[in-house]
Amino acid sequence: MTDPTFPTMIDLAGVSKAFTLHAQGGVRLPVLDRVDFAVRAGECVALVGPSGAGKSTLMRLVYGNYRCTTGSIGIRHDDEVIDLAAASPRTILAIRRRTLGYVSQFLRVVPRVPTLEVVAEPLRMLGVDKAEAVDRARILLARLRVPERMWSLPPATFSGGEQQRVNVARGFAADYPILLLDEPTASLDAANRDTVVALINEARERGAAIVGIFHDAAVREAVATRTFDIEGVRAAA
Ligand SMILES: Nc1ncnc2c1ncn2[C@@H]1O[C@H](COP(=O)(O)OP(=O)(O)OP(=O)(O)O)[C@@H](O)[C@H]1O
Ligand SMILES: [Mg+2]
Repeated sequence: MTDPTFPTMIDLAGVSKAFTLHAQGGVRLPVLDRVDFAVRAGECVALVGPSGAGKSTLMRLVYGNYRCTTGSIGIRHDDEVIDLAAASPRTILAIRRRTLGYVSQFLRVVPRVPTLEVVAEPLRMLGVDKAEAVDRARILLARLRVPERMWSLPPATFSGGEQQRVNVARGFAADYPILLLDEPTASLDAANRDTVVALINEARERGAAIVGIFHDAAVREAVATRTFDIEGVRAAA
């Protein structure tokens, strides 16, 4: 289980998030209310709660996609703790490059870039040389059963499950200290689901701090060291 001496990698304190819907006459939609949530290295925390409770919102706050309304979001980056709520866009990009991996539900890529490069890119951004980055990409694509004949093609026309596997391979290419996984197994068959479970457990064993949303209860049980119920911290409407 998790070693209490492992460093805290994610530390949300008093985080609230409300959306203001400008197109709807400025209606204010409170989603999270004073959430405290911390994750250590070597933990995999599953966010649970009903649809619309704010699971993806919490994950986007940790990735720096959304700004919180109140509170602080501490992220351990290069051995210092940085508050994302106060960080500059440039710092957020540096944190994403070296510290935060994010597997979103859908693949978003630049058109015309071949699959192998899409997967190798996070490593190239870290300065890893091309041959080594491409080797790692090959290993991941093979483990995730993406047929080799597709590796030189851009993933834009791939099936939903194929794109998701490319997305997972890209998210696991670099050994990020923090991994955020939003439904990484949603459209996968059983064999590939098992591969993703193995990748998640390997990442946790090397000390990654992982936060995930896993609707599949069997996947959740196979990877999560604990759950965090977002409903319990939801803002009163
Ligand atoms: N960018 C946004 N602008 C306005 N409202 C938003 C925005 N993002 C999320 N919301 C609202 O915040 C609430 C929480 O959404 P969120 O996507 O975090 O839910 P979730 O728990 O991930 O649900 P699901 O299980 O369906 O994915 C919803 O009511 C949603 O409409
Ligand atoms: Mg969601």
